[in-house]
Amino acid sequence: MPAISCSAPGKVILCGEHAVVYGAPAIALPVFQVSTVTKIFAHPQDPTGTVQIIAPSISLNSPVDSLPELNPLKVAVDLVMKEFHIDHIPACEIRIQSTLPLAAGMGSSASVTISLVRAVSTFLGHPLDNEVVNRIGFEVEKLHHGSPSGIDNSVITYTMPVFFQQGKPIEYLKIASPFTLIIADSGKKGSTAEAVAGVRQWRQMNQPHFNAWLEEIRKITLQIKESLEIGNLEAVGLNLTLNHELLKASGVSNSELDALVTTALKSGAAGAKLSGGGLGGNIIALVNKEQAPAVVQSLLACGAVKTIITDIPASSGNQAKK
Ligand code: PMV
Repeated sequence: MPAISCSAPGKVILCGEHAVVYGAPAIALPVFQVSTVTKIFAHPQDPTGTVQIIAPSISLNSPVDSLPELNPLKVAVDLVMKEFHIDHIPACEIRIQSTLPLAAGMGSSASVTISLVRAVSTFLGHPLDNEVVNRIGFEVEKLHHGSPSGIDNSVITYTMPVFFQQGKPIEYLKIASPFTLIIADSGKKGSTAEAVAGVRQWRQMNQPHFNAWLEEIRKITLQIKESLEIGNLEAVGLNLTLNHELLKASGVSNSELDALVTTALKSGAAGAKLSGGGLGGNIIALVNKEQAPAVVQSLLACGAVKTIITDIPASSGNQAKK
């Protein structure tokens, strides 16, 4: 029996990725079909501080102390200890198991961190509240790519659809009508760090063009928010596709993602776009629930290696609680 078990979901970004790094708002949704589970087994017979960490999906089986100083798992454990003003945790084995695809824009790094932080703090007897979990999640995300917006750790900590803007309190999104999304994995690994660096370079080289691009995406995200609030899914779909075109213009798409988007639209999706960092990873497509199986078939025929159909329920959209 594990002493402790804590889980965290995956996520998709509905709209506004990349622009969110430069202060524009973005919308993200938790995805519960994939998750990370961290289990902690106490080893009371071992000396305090003997902590073994096992994460099969990244072939890791090591004492935490032997990990490099900036290893994200080690940093997450260290930051929890810092919250508790302690230098060691009681001897234990930490097992992290994740069904999230790596480098696919579904928030695998944030999901691992959030489940780990929740598990370690629960093991220490005081589960940290969401605000602290989110803060630690953000610190660890910085190790994965230097300048994260914080959207991944936020949506995965609060497990609610969020309207996110850097430096502002997280808003839970109001969703008037439930909707269905298909998430389709292109099978090509994305690189958020590389994609973010590419956009930054493009911005330096062409500031006026970048500013116009940023403004367009800001408008699209605000329109999607308003459309979700009144249940106008047709408008949401059109704006998702426009968002994809803008992401393409910034250089973060590729031929596989573009082909999947085109296929989704041709087979009846109301809108489709890449989701997350890009250069690989996933696309999302907004569909009628009844259409979903047919669109999935088309996406698989076009080269998608995996698909998830996720139903996003209606929600009332209150301000996030701490
Ligand atoms: O982790 P990903 O690949 O879903 O990308 C995160 C979204 C970006 O806007 C590209 C980066 C960020 O920190 O917001």
